[in-house]
Formats: sequence, C-alpha cells, structure tokens
Amino acid sequence: MITSYDYPTAAIADGVGVDSILVGDSYGMVVLGYENTIPVTVDELLPVCRAVKRGATHPLLIGDLPFMSFQVSSEEAIRTAGRFVKEGGMEAVKIEGGKEVSKIVESITSMGIPVLGHIGVAPQTATLHGGYRIQGRSISSVDRLVDDAKSLEEAGVFGIVLEMVTEEIAKLVTDTVSVPTIGIGSGRFCDGQVLVLHDIIGLYHNFTPKFAKRYADVSAMIKQALKNFTIDVRNGVFPQEQNVFRMGEDQRAKLNSKWKI
Ligand code: KIV
Repeated sequence: MITSYDYPTAAIADGVGVDSILVGDSYGMVVLGYENTIPVTVDELLPVCRAVKRGATHPLLIGDLPFMSFQVSSEEAIRTAGRFVKEGGMEAVKIEGGKEVSKIVESITSMGIPVLGHIGVAPQTATLHGGYRIQGRSISSVDRLVDDAKSLEEAGVFGIVLEMVTEEIAKLVTDTVSVPTIGIGSGRFCDGQVLVLHDIIGLYHNFTPKFAKRYADVSAMIKQALKNFTIDVRNGVFPQEQNVFRMGEDQRAKLNSKWKI
C-alpha cells in the first residue's frame, strides 16, 4: 500500500501493480504544507480522492477520514464515509483509533462501507498522547494494543494499520487478529506495508521518519530540471526550432510582403 494524492502518481502506482492506495490525511502535510494532519478537511480531500480514482482502476482505494469528521456521532461518521464513497469514488475508508472508535466502525461497516482501522501512533490525536511516541515499548502498553486490535476486528474492520509499534508487539497483534495488518514503522512481521509516497520518492524534506526508505530523490531531480530550464531561457537556448509553431509558406509570403519582414 502507498499513499497518493493525484492522478499521475495514482496511475503510476496502478501501472506497477500496487495493491492498494490510501488517500491519506498526510496530504495536509506533504502537499498542503500544514504542520500536522489536524487541519485537513473532508472538502479538501474529496477532490484528491476523485483525482486518484481517475488515475487508478486496479488498486483498492481507501480514503482517510480526517480529524473530527467521524468522532462526534455514528450518524456523522456514516455521512462522512458515504461522501468518500459517493463523491470521492473510494472503495473503503480508514479511521484512526482503537476501542474508542469501535462503535463508529460498526456503524459504518453495517452500512456496507469497508473500514480499515489504524492503531499505534495515531497522528490525529498524537498531541494528546505526548507526540509521535513509539507504541508497545513496555509490557503495560501491550494489553491495550491487543485489545484495540481485537475490538476493531469485532467491529468489522477488513484490516488494521499499525503505525510505529515495536516489532515484537506488531507481530503479536498480527498473530492475534485474523484480519491483515499493514505496518508503517512496525517492523517486518505485519501482513503488508504502507509508506507515504513523498517519503518513498524523496519529495518531502521537512521530516523523514527513521522507518521510511527513500527509493528516489525526486526533489533533487525537480531542482535540477528547474535550474536547467531557467538557465536555458536566460541564455536563449530554449525554445529551439523543434519547439516552435510556424505559418504555412504562402501565409508567410503574404506576411513578408505586407509587413516587409
Ligand atoms: O495519512 C496517512 O498517510 C496515513 C498513513 C501513514 C498510514 O495514515
């Protein structure tokens, strides 16, 4: 699984056989430049979902329900999830939280909308829990993570994202629940892995998590391309013959005789 926030990268992901695309609320940070994911709204994410949908036909498309778009009531959660499916073209939604959101998960799945859970570090409520702190370091935190996973499973999620959970506990959770776990910073024993696209391709430099692997340096490529373009324009090297449009011979002759050029 990868995240995507536009038509071209969704099409590329589809082309290389990525199984699933998450239109993550990380869009707020890596594309809109917000400091965290809290400010992102449903109205900001829906056009992004539609662009991704136009680009990708094969991967499972999952929309991330933003902060405070589902917590207040089951009714609101169903309405928001419904918008991601009807207006955004998503096939499933993701919800951050454990046991405390299991009722909400149940309401959404009972309406026929598949839900992906998300436990461990939950960026939308990270401030409340003292920031982005690795989960499952101590024995005391294990019961809560396993409980959260089980209650999400009972509520009907089709999978669970485990974010920044120690490898030992991620394995325990993976072995305990029957739905697949998708790890991000949670080691090698999850059933699948997800990374933020901009971390994979090197397009977000404000912060690179230790768990991410950069497979390309697209920022450097863009920088070089823009430098070269600027230099070419300033030196009159671009555009060249092959980049221009011309009049037909007869029209050019008329132009020359009228304007003497
Ligand atoms: O918004 C996002 O990109 C996510 C992933 C990190 C799982 O939630």
